[in-house]
Amino acid sequence: IMNLTRRPRRLRTTAAMRSLVAETTLRPAQLIQVFFVRDGIDEPQPIRSMPGQYQHTLESIIPAVREAYEAGIRCIDLFGIPRDEDKDEVGSTAWDPQGILNRAIAVCREEFGDDLVVMADTCLDEFTSHGHCGVLVDNGHGTLVVDNDQTVELYCKMAVSQARAGAHTVSPSGMMDGQIAAMRAALDEAGFEDVSILAYSAKYASAFFGPFRDAVESSFTGDRKTYQQDPANRRESLLVRADLEEGADMVMVKPAGSYLDIVREVAEFSPVPVAAYQVSGEYAMIEAAAANGWIDRKAVVLESLRSIHRAGADVILTYYGTEAARWL
Ligand code: PBG
Repeated sequence: IMNLTRRPRRLRTTAAMRSLVAETTLRPAQLIQVFFVRDGIDEPQPIRSMPGQYQHTLESIIPAVREAYEAGIRCIDLFGIPRDEDKDEVGSTAWDPQGILNRAIAVCREEFGDDLVVMADTCLDEFTSHGHCGVLVDNGHGTLVVDNDQTVELYCKMAVSQARAGAHTVSPSGMMDGQIAAMRAALDEAGFEDVSILAYSAKYASAFFGPFRDAVESSFTGDRKTYQQDPANRRESLLVRADLEEGADMVMVKPAGSYLDIVREVAEFSPVPVAAYQVSGEYAMIEAAAANGWIDRKAVVLESLRSIHRAGADVILTYYGTEAARWL
């Protein structure tokens, strides 16, 4: 006969009891709201595959960031979308002070000063005509590949231009080897010792990035399997340690939802804050199911974010930032 007095019990009888023993609490300031800013448009443009998200103008971004701030968000991540005619083989608009991303950084920093952390994406894919994250070269056998070291040099120029425009944090998302050490050195040399680096350290070649292509008007075809990680791999994420040694101030796992094991693993050894990115496909799936009335939108959004946090992410990049911050 079972001894009922010795049976382990879960403390869940009342809301007060559940609140007493809740192990994690997500705060609005732990969410990073992601924004897109596009050159050559007069009005914000809705993003087809990400209902509720917009390509902003340099004017409309300010009230959108203010809304985020008022909801409790303390960090934004900016992506720039240049005009088609400003794209080229190497993505030079990325380090042009007049390029759309640098101008967006500048207007946000000007408006908000140090009240929130202005972060920018530091990668070339929005700016290259071919949509790859770096410089394409022939590998000598007729295959075009991204040249790691030439690309890293351009990332350094881009990072310094972003710092000059007013970014508090740069966020290299291109997965080139050695990019963190090179960028740290370039920033320091240009006098930006205080500009921090959020390294996309374990970024997977993921189909969950699909809707993002719409969001940034990318003509990209093909895949990024020669520089992003294989979804089959876990051990590969231990290379996050290399970014830590190179001076990353935060490390990121991306996407988030399907890679919670990796988030947990990195959280176990990282001495710096761990970030996770709830990407466009994760957003689009929730939106599509909610639009059909198949799930409770608010509950699923909050559960998805809390799960990422519980797995070990200190901060979460998400398209739900402002909205979720209001709910929390
Ligand atoms: C590329 C980049 C991508 C995303 C952020 N930065 C796309 C890719 O790597 O193919 C995806 C973000 C999202 O899907 O929300 N630098």
